[in-house]
Amino acid sequence: MPAALITGGTTGIGRANAALLHARGHRGAVTGQSAEPLARARRELSDDMIVVRSDVRVPPKPRLSWQGCPNVSGLSTCCSATTPGFLPRTGRAGVAEKSFDEHVDVNFKGRHTLQKARPQTNDGGPIILTVDSASRRGSPGATVGAGLRGAVLAMLPSLALELAPRRIRVNTVSNGATETPLFDKLGEPQNGRDAIRTKIPFERSGSSQEAAEAVAFPASDITGYATGQDFAVAGGYEPGA
Ligand SMILES: NC(=O)c1ccc[n+]([C@@H]2O[C@H](COP(=O)([O-])OP(=O)(O)OC[C@H]3O[C@@H](n4cnc5c(N)ncnc54)[C@H](OP(=O)(O)O)[C@@H]3O)[C@@H](O)[C@H]2O)c1
Repeated sequence: MPAALITGGTTGIGRANAALLHARGHRGAVTGQSAEPLARARRELSDDMIVVRSDVRVPPKPRLSWQGCPNVSGLSTCCSATTPGFLPRTGRAGVAEKSFDEHVDVNFKGRHTLQKARPQTNDGGPIILTVDSASRRGSPGATVGAGLRGAVLAMLPSLALELAPRRIRVNTVSNGATETPLFDKLGEPQNGRDAIRTKIPFERSGSSQEAAEAVAFPASDITGYATGQDFAVAGGYEPGA
């Protein structure tokens, strides 16, 4: 049975990834950090998916979260879908240093941390990192979030080449606006969500199931010859003017 590690898998896109990968025959582990989503994920996910409290900001030194999961050695899939419960908007005063650092730790270093799973990843096992379609398009106030997703995208070709000798494929999924608890966590009002939708050529947000399918695609053998690629799933937002 293939084994998947999904960091940030207790809510939203990661949670949908966990359910979908399990339905397609994976066991594995999902991580998160807040008590209530952890408890809900434990209740709702199959016992084949261990739910582990783990903060990706913490350097995985004395104990990697997935080392606490005995049945997650021999990883066949690693996905990262973490994001802190707020986005630092660049206002006139800029972004507070603490907020900037937290985003670097979760959205950049947290992705990098997945490389610590390399020894436990089977040769041929895919790694998928979630980024954001907004990293390629300007949006006032989105400087920090876009920059950090851009940093992950810049790592992608080199990481893919480093792991190619082991036939580990590394790809990213660039999500567009997707209905997840993230908008509630951000306190985004309905008119703000409506305004986002008006910028999307498909005139709607994606569902977390659509986002999960977008991760399952580079995770599957169908894309066995694809590495170093970014799969954009954004309702036409990226090519849009
Ligand atoms: N939703 C969108 O419209 C959208 C669009 C483009 C890109 N994305 C990207 O897709 C990814 C997933 O987003 P989402 O909408 O599914 O968000 P979400 O529902 O808020 O899920 C985020 C997940 O990350 C976990 N997490 C947050 N900080 C963590 C930390 N320090 N350590 C470990 N886990 C942590 C959360 O657990 P806790 O609740 O316990 O913190 C949760 O499981 C993010 O990278 C996001 O930027 C989302």
